[in-house]
Order: sequence, then C-alpha cells, then structure tokens
Amino acid sequence: MQPLLDRKLLFITGKGGVGKTTIAAAVGLLAARTGRRTIVVEVGDQSRLTGLFDIPSPPPGVETELEEGLSSISIDPDRALLEWLQALGGRVSGRVLASSGTFQYFAAAAPGAKELVSMVKIWQLTRGGRRRSPSHDLVVIDAPATGHALGMLRSPQTFGAIARVGPIAGQTRQVRDLLEDPARTAYLAVALATEMAVTEALELQEGLRLQLGRSLEAVIVNGLLPRRFSAADMQLIATLGEKAAQADGVAASAARAARTVHERSRRQHNQVARLRRRSFEVLGVPFVWGARLDLAAVRAISERLDRKL
Ligand SMILES: Nc1ncnc2c1ncn2[C@@H]1O[C@H](COP(=O)(O)OP(=O)(O)O)[C@@H](O)[C@H]1O
Ligand SMILES: [Mg+2]
Repeated sequence: MQPLLDRKLLFITGKGGVGKTTIAAAVGLLAARTGRRTIVVEVGDQSRLTGLFDIPSPPPGVETELEEGLSSISIDPDRALLEWLQALGGRVSGRVLASSGTFQYFAAAAPGAKELVSMVKIWQLTRGGRRRSPSHDLVVIDAPATGHALGMLRSPQTFGAIARVGPIAGQTRQVRDLLEDPARTAYLAVALATEMAVTEALELQEGLRLQLGRSLEAVIVNGLLPRRFSAADMQLIATLGEKAAQADGVAASAARAARTVHERSRRQHNQVARLRRRSFEVLGVPFVWGARLDLAAVRAISERLDRKL
C-alpha cells in the first residue's frame, strides 16, 4: 500500500473533543519532519494551531508558517460561501450581501453550498499555486466532527445535483474525483477508547463507504491509559485493600484508586478490541498528563505516530 503521507490529502475527523486538532497537528509535524511541505487546514472560524506554536492569530483565511515546511490556514465555510457569492455578484459588497438576508436565504436554499465551496478551496490547496507548481506536498484537514465532516464529503453530490452546468459543475467533479481517489486521499478517524467515540468511528466508516466507496485507513485511538496491573496484581491489591480497610485509611484509598484506574484501562482495552475485531488498523496514542497539552507534548505524539504511520 502507498504510504499514508505520500497522498495529497489526509482527512481527519471523529467525535467532538476526541483530539482531532491535536492529531492533525501531530501528523502535520511528522509530515514536515520527513521533508514534505505540509499545510494543516482548520475548518471553522478558529485557528488553534497558531496558538500552539505561540504565533499571533492571523486574519481568517491567511496561510501562516508555523515552522519550516509546515503552515496552517483556517477555512470558515460561512465566510467561504460569502466570498464565493461576492465573486459571482461582482459589485455587490460583502457587507451588503452579509446583511441583506440574501446570504442566509441562499445558504438555506442551497444545501451543501458552503461545504462544497470549502471543499473547492481544499482541492485548490492540493493543486498549489497558479503557476502549476504545487506549493504543498500534503494537505492535512482538521475536519469538523463526524456528521459535519460527512456533510462536507457529500457536498459534491448534494450541491452537484443543483449545479449541473457551468464552472461550479466542473469543480464539483474535480472535488469528487479527489475524494474518491485512494492514491490521492486517505481518511483517518480519531476516537477516544469510549463506547460512543468508537461507535462514531464505525458510523464514519459506513458513511465513507456509502458516499464515496472509501474506507478508513486507520483509527487513531487517543488518550489511552497505561495498563499498570496484571490480574494477579489486582488480586493482591484487593486482598491488601480488605486487610487495610479496618486499620489503614490511606492504604484502603490507594487500593480503591488502583481499582478505578485498572477498571478504566480495562474498558478502554475492550473498545480497542472492538475496533480490532472489525479489522481496523488501530494506532494508539497515550493520554498525556499535565496541565495543558503544549507543543512539546504534540511533538512527542508525532514521534510516536512516526513509528506507526
Ligand atoms: N493524548 C492526549 N493527552 C492529553 N490531553 C489531550 C490528548 N489529546 C488531546 N488532548 C486535549 O483534549 C482536548 C481536546 O483535544 P482537541 O485536539 O482540541 O480535540 P478536537 O479537535 O477533537 O475537539 C484539548 O484540550 C487537548 O489539549
Ligand atoms: Mg478541533
């Protein structure tokens, strides 16, 4: 199989809060470290990556260099649609358009429009500059959560049904070709090892199959706890805990804490097994302890992924 990082587009999604942005940053760092000119695209009106690198937030839609070979940009679907309509409307100013209600009307009447316009922007990033020299080897998408991400991926079909002719129809086809092409695009799910997050990864897999005839390359299971104790250890801890219950409050609490940690990691393990049973490639990323996940921690995650991707 073609190495994951040798595609043009890596699309990363999963349930809200599972670590999509963190993993997208780690994958971006890894790709850049291995000599690929990489851009990470944050979809939405935030730019968390610049913050992670201690760089002041740029105006929306402006590409910012994070370090050598690595840059980021945020694409806000609402703004992308507004700009697109403005370009169509010629002299109509963005301010008038935004306030006139036309925009909201159009956005509501044309399902998939803002998702498609965002996907067109992403497709353009994979193709690079005007002079045909691609400015990036790899585009990593920090996509919204599963449902919205599937909406973006479906937008060529949704919106293509409305715009069958003209320039947008051509772009629609190009976006769809890119998303369906295993040589150019790969899909990664991020999940926590919880029942709900794993279920969402399975739903994503099903959506990809139905919409694009594609499947997930791997599921990155984030936030794994270490398995500290064997069954024999746990038995010993239980006995000690019982003995200590009458005499020693501290030892009893320690035994309880050990049981809680053990139980949590056991449940995580069951969710990983659930994915493996369905033959997913599972890449584990440990939970990082500390007040805040900083750049050093994300680099450490990226080095870990290096051995697996
Ligand atoms: N492996 C990890 N260990 C500890 N904290 C993590 C880990 N991965 C992500 N986080 C933290 O969890 C929170 C959610 O992560 P984030 O990447 O923003 O998720 P998402 O983009 O899916 O919403 C953030 O505060 C992030 O710093
Ligand atoms: Mg995020």
